[in-house]
Amino acid sequence: MAADKNPKASPYTRPFLKWAGGKYRLVERIRSHLPAGSRLIEPFVGSGAVFLNLEFNDYLLADINPDLIGLYQLVQAEGEDFIARLRPYFDPARNTPEHYYATRERFNACTDPEERSALFVYLNRHGYNGLCRYNSEGGFNVPFGRYKKIYFPEKELQHFHRHSQRARFLCADFGEVMKQARKGSVIYCDPPYAPLSRTASFTAYASAKHGQFGASEQERLAELAARAASKGVPVLLSNHDNEYTRRVYAEASLASFPVRRTISCDSSRRGHAAELLALYRP
Ligand SMILES: C[S@@+](CC[C@H](N)C(=O)[O-])C[C@H]1O[C@@H](n2cnc3c(N)ncnc32)[C@H](O)[C@@H]1O
Repeated sequence: MAADKNPKASPYTRPFLKWAGGKYRLVERIRSHLPAGSRLIEPFVGSGAVFLNLEFNDYLLADINPDLIGLYQLVQAEGEDFIARLRPYFDPARNTPEHYYATRERFNACTDPEERSALFVYLNRHGYNGLCRYNSEGGFNVPFGRYKKIYFPEKELQHFHRHSQRARFLCADFGEVMKQARKGSVIYCDPPYAPLSRTASFTAYASAKHGQFGASEQERLAELAARAASKGVPVLLSNHDNEYTRRVYAEASLASFPVRRTISCDSSRRGHAAELLALYRP
């Protein structure tokens, strides 16, 4: 996850979910590079940090994760009713490993969309680092987060409800979403990051199994971005800045800036990463 130096100074509204790769701290950078338009399309909406803080006439917001999109449709439709149903899950007595693992089991067995969405927010705020990860059978498998205090994101949920009234949510692969762009649309793409450097992880990543985001997806996305631009729709993409992404985005104009990485196992790399914004102009 990328982070600027002084997060407290941000005038922007935080998303109600924690999300790996969330762009809350980079909204200002993204805003300053995003061309004007009437509709914002985000094929990788994640926590929604970008759409929540930018004004467009309307929004098409998509993600491959059905739990995420189901939740957003509910918050959009129900607002305060959803918040009232969610509140009891944030009772401090529920912040224990026993409650967490029992709730995780309940979530994995739950097929009721309303209950599943509330459980999803509980797991996101009480689980480890706000990670969202499923096993091969589709079971959510993130461990307990061990936070001393849990924040109930009421005002962030209210903001989301208000701001999403002009949005349409879609659970789909980015290819399908990008096809829906028309003149007047602007696309912001924030795909899962390409690996930081050409290490063993690159090979593993390139041969990622179905459902993961490998090199072929990164390259297909760049092709679709170039195609959209050739039809009059500008596309801005975020990624790590490295040799690989510069090669993939060779046709775009590039802007690079340093960021502090908050999630990295490699301490030698902390504080030295760079983020790339690639703009495909019509
Ligand atoms: C880096 S996150 C986006 C973060 C977002 N900009 C934010 O500020 O929170 C990448 C997102 O892409 C989604 N994703 C992964 N593969 C996808 C695909 N093939 N099509 C659409 N979305 C996908 C993931 O579920 C995840 O939410």
